[in-house]
Amino acid sequence: MAVLKKMRSHHCGQLRASDLDLEVQLCGWVSKRRNLGGLVFIDVRDRYGLTQVVVDPQLKGGAQVYEVASQLRSEFVISCRGKVRRRPEGMTNRDLPTGEIEVVGMDLVILSEAKTPPFLIEDDLDATETLRLKYRYLDLRRPILQRNLLIRHRMLSLIRNHLDENGFIEVETPLLYKSTPEGARDFIVPSRLTPGTFYALPQSPQTLKQLLMISGLDRYYQIARCFRDEDLRADRQPEFSQIDIETSFLDEEAFFPILESMVAKLWKEILKQDLKLPLPRMPYSEAMRRFGSDKPDIRFGLELVDLSSLFQATSFQVFQNALVLTPKGRRGSIRGIVVPGVQDRFSRKDLDDLQSQAVNLGAKGLIWVKVQATGELQSPIAKFLSIPEKETLKTQLGLKPGDLVLIVADPCEKVVFESLGAIRLSLGATLGLIPKAGEGSPAFLWVVNFPLLEFNEKEGRYYACHHPFTSPRPEDYQDFIEGKNLEGIQASAYDLVLNGVEIGGGSMRIYQPEIQSAMFKLLGLSEEEAQEKFGFFLEALQYGTPPHGGVAFGVDRLAALLCGVGPIRDVMAFPKTQKGHCLMSESPSGIPQEQLVELGVQVLSGRETG
Ligand code: AMO
Ligand code: AMP
Repeated sequence: MAVLKKMRSHHCGQLRASDLDLEVQLCGWVSKRRNLGGLVFIDVRDRYGLTQVVVDPQLKGGAQVYEVASQLRSEFVISCRGKVRRRPEGMTNRDLPTGEIEVVGMDLVILSEAKTPPFLIEDDLDATETLRLKYRYLDLRRPILQRNLLIRHRMLSLIRNHLDENGFIEVETPLLYKSTPEGARDFIVPSRLTPGTFYALPQSPQTLKQLLMISGLDRYYQIARCFRDEDLRADRQPEFSQIDIETSFLDEEAFFPILESMVAKLWKEILKQDLKLPLPRMPYSEAMRRFGSDKPDIRFGLELVDLSSLFQATSFQVFQNALVLTPKGRRGSIRGIVVPGVQDRFSRKDLDDLQSQAVNLGAKGLIWVKVQATGELQSPIAKFLSIPEKETLKTQLGLKPGDLVLIVADPCEKVVFESLGAIRLSLGATLGLIPKAGEGSPAFLWVVNFPLLEFNEKEGRYYACHHPFTSPRPEDYQDFIEGKNLEGIQASAYDLVLNGVEIGGGSMRIYQPEIQSAMFKLLGLSEEEAQEKFGFFLEALQYGTPPHGGVAFGVDRLAALLCGVGPIRDVMAFPKTQKGHCLMSESPSGIPQEQLVELGVQVLSGRETG
């Protein structure tokens, strides 16, 4: 008997017809065990694949092996010594890389037994996601999830290499830190050593990476964990990763090629696809005007059309109201989407559903207009429109019988864009215009020239569209300093969008302390608040700050797109549910009273004990 020092000689995806007669030792999980005509077939699985082991009691020593094989159950961990042989004529499995061979078991050891798993470990399983997340470690044994984690690993390793080759160095930054504003709520950690004080987990390493530029690190990157307490969706997790990048002395034109070649490398190495560089760019204003979104899915049409001038002199109240000039000098708009030749596909209920979607996004309604076979317009608002208005609508939009027009009018332009943008996506999905995840060619787009500031009507104050460290575009500097035309000021900010998903965002930063102070002030932070929250940062800016800028890509979103899966949960080892719960460890959970006391924390409601 050969002495095998290692626990295994090969892994379960390795053996081929060229290995015939080799004596091998495999380890892995029992994926399946079948008794057929006195033989036992065992599918042994590991990360690399699946190999069939056959046990024949008639062979020399076979009875003993057969005895062990009979005890095997799904998910037992076994070690098997055996000899590679070609599968009999007609028994080759073409779907399996190891499908030409099998291993004749000569020795079989049970390394560990397994309880009956709560669901079958296979790709096409019908277990609920709740059950799968509770037993995530079993779920992760499924080949598809292993493949996703492998692609994610491969992606990160290509990124690390690319950034290293371009002179970026990886620096870790603390998680126990202070609030970094990215627009979400912070997760807070109480300090035991100084009761009554708290760390905030970073929403991103934004201030830290800028400080590293002040330190002269020149080019930094980090695969950074970020924490944001916000409402979760399919593409949002409370804890996620970014490829966080910052550089000094590069403007956008010099920076983009480094990022684009990184993305191209990923698509080439992982998907064998060539991307055409440079990636296309679109100003924010055009993205909103045409697609009603700052992350447009440009893989299909159904673009928005502006109907405001058409209805300039209308007597229809809803349209009139939308076009009234507000005291702030803002005007809304009337916009629509033409859906050609689909009339019969949209029942009243479908239209009502679309309307509720628009209403959920703040619209007051969604007007539909159908062009009948006679050419006449049918619509709940038909009676409010004049004959010339109807005629112009038809000619301007080139309407034909069977066409459907969906219209939103609102005194707030943002509401019009957001609701129609969402309706467009929903129509695209209903009409099958959007390729499924993983299909079709990737549609990359840089969205550039974002506005710097956004006025919040409700709160009566400005918010930074990206974050407060983003610089105005150089040509708008003077206006910014003088506080003029604030809403017209553009930011040196950019997002990378892929198939309608925002996979990255960044900006050139403010590097002058007085401009940063002015920005905080504009955002409604008093001098004291600015000092308390960002005093250290404002001071740092005064010690020689290089012009700098950066970007952060969403690791999880990028990996999901590379894997061709929908939700980012599928590319995360241990994701949380919609409610931010880990079903496996049952966190978040209460903590014992003593621990609360030690932290100087009192719980007002909810559970106190673990
Ligand atoms: P931003 O807030 O745009 O920018 O985030 C960058 C990218 O991170 C991803 N992302 C998320 N992924 C999963 N779950 C979430 N909850 C989540 N939130 C964001 C997105 C997004 O494009 N500090 C700046 C970057 C910079 O200016 O350099 C920042 O964090 O893909
Ligand atoms: P009404 O004036 O309530 O009879 O509305 C007529 C139609 O216009 C209905 O389909 C409403 O949903 C729709 N509607 C009302 N206000 C708006 C608005 N601001 N934008 C879009 N549709 C609207």
